[in-house]
Amino acid sequence: MISTKCLLTAGVLLVGIVGMNRGSQAEETASLKKVFKDDFLVGTALGTRQIAGREAGALELAAKQFNSITPENCLKWAEVHPEADEYDFEASDEFVEWGEANGMFIVGHTLVWHNQTPPWAFAGVDGKPLDRETALARIKTHIDTVVGRYKGRIHGWDVVNEAINDQGKLRTGPVGTWPNRGEPWHAAIGDDYIEQAFRMAHAADPEAELYYNDFNEWYPAKIKAISELVTGLKAKGVRIDGIGLQGHWGLDYPTLEEIDTMFTEYGKLGVKLMITELDVSCLPAPDSETGADITRIVSAGPGQNPFPNGLPPEKQEELAARYAAIFQLFEKHRDKIERVTFWGVHDGQSWRNNWPVPGRSDYPLLFDRKMQPKSAFEAVIGTATSE
Ligand code: XIL
Repeated sequence: MISTKCLLTAGVLLVGIVGMNRGSQAEETASLKKVFKDDFLVGTALGTRQIAGREAGALELAAKQFNSITPENCLKWAEVHPEADEYDFEASDEFVEWGEANGMFIVGHTLVWHNQTPPWAFAGVDGKPLDRETALARIKTHIDTVVGRYKGRIHGWDVVNEAINDQGKLRTGPVGTWPNRGEPWHAAIGDDYIEQAFRMAHAADPEAELYYNDFNEWYPAKIKAISELVTGLKAKGVRIDGIGLQGHWGLDYPTLEEIDTMFTEYGKLGVKLMITELDVSCLPAPDSETGADITRIVSAGPGQNPFPNGLPPEKQEELAARYAAIFQLFEKHRDKIERVTFWGVHDGQSWRNNWPVPGRSDYPLLFDRKMQPKSAFEAVIGTATSE
């Protein structure tokens, strides 16, 4: 513990010492939302336990550091609309209330997706495959009810999630198991299911911003396909405000060049860009996959969980340097970037402890399991140009 601290940067050491002196006027950890206030919003995903106030300190930290919130799970179809005639708004109501009380830009995630959607939604009528009319009616009811409930209160929605595969084609076919993930909404409705979903979301809340959200967006095939999607929607007069770039990244992927090119290319479309789910895994990738398909589960091989008791100082510094380089790019493209949202408040919460390899200890965020700032936090603060 002591030796680890000695090796951390002076800034973190200072924060640690000052942090122990609770109540002191001198106690002042920098704030992400403050240092980037002229550049972009800085958000976090809140888990359902956190929203319920059952994780001591998490909401306080979120309120201090962030000015935007996304629900990690509670607004996904399976959570909020588990049966055709059953909705559960307990967590999402609390989420929105907390966001309003704390002046947050509130994001809804996500309306139309092939994952975390209950089987009934994809089931056909009378044993037949799901038909277009039924599928559209289900999506409309879902969107009317969920978006309508938070009309004027949720400021932006991830309307469609992960519709395009790594080859730049629309996903289709039955749900399937990874790597043959299908898109039952496309299979039932056809190519225009995205357009229809955006139209319905706009009708349900004309003031809300509407986004398309995906992973691996730096792949050239996806840049092309997502650009065509956005251009096509705009040409038809369909409201689309932005592209959500998830950002489940690693220490060595995507390259800085790939990130840079991604912003430049999407920047030509004239829509807002946002990093919506940022985390940087510090663990060895089990294979060459870079996507974030939640159903891709790989069992741990030898050496796959190298840091069960904490991240060694040299890895802390590697993470800090990686975060600094990424945020320098965010600063470079700040004219196009509206928001940067981390996928969780602190390392203990991160889904990357269990994905793609279950049961590992990962360190992908800026705050550690004790909710203390890491050297990566100081590194990110150091990239801010506005203060
Ligand atoms: C993840 C959550 O973090 C996990 O808690 C859940 O078990 C699975 O989903 N892309 C997305 C997010 O759009 O909704 C996913 O969130 C991560 C990948």
